[in-house]
Amino acid sequence: MTAPLQIAKRTSHVFHQPISVLGFGGSLYASFDERQVLQDFKDAIQAAFEAGINHFDTAQSYGDGQGERIFGGCLSHFERERYILASKMLLKKGKDETVEGVKASLRNLATNYLDLFYIHWPAGNTDPRPMMEGLEECRRQGLIRHIGVSNFSVEQLEVLREAGTVDVVQLCYNLLWRRHEEDLIPYCAKHGIGIFSYSSLAQGILTGKYPKEYQPAEGDARRNSVFFRPDVWPTISDAVAAMQRLADESGATLVELAMAWLLRQPAILSIIVGARSSTQIRRNIQALFASISDNVLDRLTDISDELKATIPDTGNIFQYYPE
Ligand SMILES: NC(=O)c1ccc[n+]([C@@H]2O[C@H](COP(=O)([O-])OP(=O)(O)OC[C@H]3O[C@@H](n4cnc5c(N)ncnc54)[C@H](OP(=O)(O)O)[C@@H]3O)[C@@H](O)[C@H]2O)c1
Repeated sequence: MTAPLQIAKRTSHVFHQPISVLGFGGSLYASFDERQVLQDFKDAIQAAFEAGINHFDTAQSYGDGQGERIFGGCLSHFERERYILASKMLLKKGKDETVEGVKASLRNLATNYLDLFYIHWPAGNTDPRPMMEGLEECRRQGLIRHIGVSNFSVEQLEVLREAGTVDVVQLCYNLLWRRHEEDLIPYCAKHGIGIFSYSSLAQGILTGKYPKEYQPAEGDARRNSVFFRPDVWPTISDAVAAMQRLADESGATLVELAMAWLLRQPAILSIIVGARSSTQIRRNIQALFASISDNVLDRLTDISDELKATIPDTGNIFQYYPE
């Protein structure tokens, strides 16, 4: 019998244990659709664990707590100290409601601590500092071990850091969305803040599986994505086809190229990818073992550079601006 692949882990000053370069994204656990049964989720998590993935990411807003509950249930078979569990909450205005909100996540996930808790989104002109004070209180009480933010700009992060210590930033980063290269990524690197990428396969587009006529189904959150806008998608589709040709030419898959490209960035600690089945997660784990030359990755950057200029700067890929 061949030994299972064990994926690499990166050490950082942020976590007391090394973290797997691939993180398991839990947003699909928010709901079931006709393609999904609970056993698929359980099998996917089992496969992830067996391969050494120890980074699991969810949020309260994935199905209004439902995502956390299902995710927590699937994880409950594994020894708690063996994995890094992260969740997120939308911005709260006060310290006390923040502490209560964190406790709600703990109940949903059936755990007594979280390794990482994020402020999921900034909101309008709401001051994020009271929430940060609440998170620091949770850290003092041992309810959470690290604090993160997601979807914050450098300016918003600077304000937040007046009220506490931000350990991790989770940002959208992939071959189709590179707007943080100029500011947020260098800022985090300079201040010793760990960086995780989300939508690392650009919501599945970088699997190359969506044809040019594809539109996400009714009810699929990707319908709001800038990538699938009728004025944007045809250009993306052409660029992805060019990336696919490069992959074919180099004897690799597009997923292998997309992951290798992200992991070449030393500032990125872990790339978060969503998977709805053990087949998908196994393929993604396998993809980490591909050896891709610098020349191919440079040519990939060239295609991405050209595309970059054509994607509208909507601030975030979801065109979502919470008040
Ligand atoms: N902080 C934030 O605001 C934020 C925002 C978005 C996401 N996230 C986190 O990042 C995670 C991943 O993000 P994401 O789901 O947007 O994007 P993603 O990881 O780029 O794409 C996930 C999708 O890719 C497809 N896929 C993955 N592996 C595949 C494979 N081997 N073969 C074929 N298809 C494959 C699946 O598409 P199908 O569904 O079509 O099968 C899956 O739903 C989320 O679960 C969440 O934890 C965080």
